Amino acid sequence: MLPKKIDAGVLGTGFYVPDRVLTNSDLEKMVDTSDAWIVERTGIHERRLAPDETPVSELAFQAAKRALADAGTSPEELDLIIVATLTADCVCPSAASILQDRLGAKHAAAFDLSAACSGFVYASSVAAQFIATGVYRRILVIGAETLSKYVDWEDRNTCVLFGDGAGAAVYGPVEEGYGIRAFDLGSDGSGADLLGIPASGSRHMITEEIIRQRLNRIHMAGQEVFRFAVRAMPATLLRSLERAGLSPADIDWFIPHQANIRIIQAAAKRLAIPPEKFIINIGKYGNVSAASIPMALAEAAGEGRFHKGDIVALAGFGAGLTWASCIMKWAKED
Ligand code: UT7
Repeated sequence: MLPKKIDAGVLGTGFYVPDRVLTNSDLEKMVDTSDAWIVERTGIHERRLAPDETPVSELAFQAAKRALADAGTSPEELDLIIVATLTADCVCPSAASILQDRLGAKHAAAFDLSAACSGFVYASSVAAQFIATGVYRRILVIGAETLSKYVDWEDRNTCVLFGDGAGAAVYGPVEEGYGIRAFDLGSDGSGADLLGIPASGSRHMITEEIIRQRLNRIHMAGQEVFRFAVRAMPATLLRSLERAGLSPADIDWFIPHQANIRIIQAAAKRLAIPPEKFIINIGKYGNVSAASIPMALAEAAGEGRFHKGDIVALAGFGAGLTWASCIMKWAKED
């Protein structure tokens, strides 16, 4: 028999971005673009770039240390580490296993989760299941990316969008009625070709021809993904809200995936959520895929914006295609 359901919530958060800033005016010197175009069409002013020699597990490590300190949790207490990423250190082993060793999390299981920009919300829902059943009590969930290593720096359609960084949350049992109240996950693989890195796995081995065609770089059908995103993000959020017995008006804070300010504004209009309830940091960091939502969550939590009992909603979408949302009742004391 499974034990009684235990509510799972955030015990601590942390985020990390590399020091190097790439501004829109830097990009003007690299491709045919302008600061005005990038700001108007995306809302992005600058993004962070990891050094060439820095793997994603290092960004994850820095964010993890901060989240563990915030949660008052030692690495030895961790039962599980999940890293949501599409830019792991290598195809095998997982970034989570490398991170587990780096942290000295001797008792933790570890795996990566691949759901692109929806990855952190997917991973949070996985963590909630282990906690709900009483199987695990301390789970570190991280979204971390080094997208700059996969960007085609000659393609102005994509190179202006992405950045590097990591955001982390420690999940554990919380007071009854708090923590994750509901979530919604989904996928439509018929859109797999719209966004991805075509030659990064077992379909195409890397050859000189693949490199010449730049198939080992990010490819995106921007307008199609845009159209998908403006439908998918509000739809998934409404499903999560319904499962939680709530409506958009009950949301205190909404953290959308930070892909494009126009997608966020379209969601705001469709859901009638006032702009002051949105947590937005796309201007500083660009689109950091799986790291976008946890970075925004950790930054806002660090600024003391959330209070116990606040309804915090997360919603993301991305390659796959995938989408995910969850509704939390903030459990952490101020
Ligand atoms: O997190 C993963 C999910 N990804 C997303 O959500 C991305 C979704 N898509 C988007 O955010 C937008 O489609 C983009 C920001 C990628 C592009 O914006 P857009 O308004 O859809 O532009 P567009 O692709 O329709 O291009 C309009 C024009 C084109 O020129 P012409 O053909 O009208 O002469 C592009 O070549 O803008 C041009 N363009 C640029 N111009 C200056 C495209 N990129 C740039 C650029 N600088 N960086």
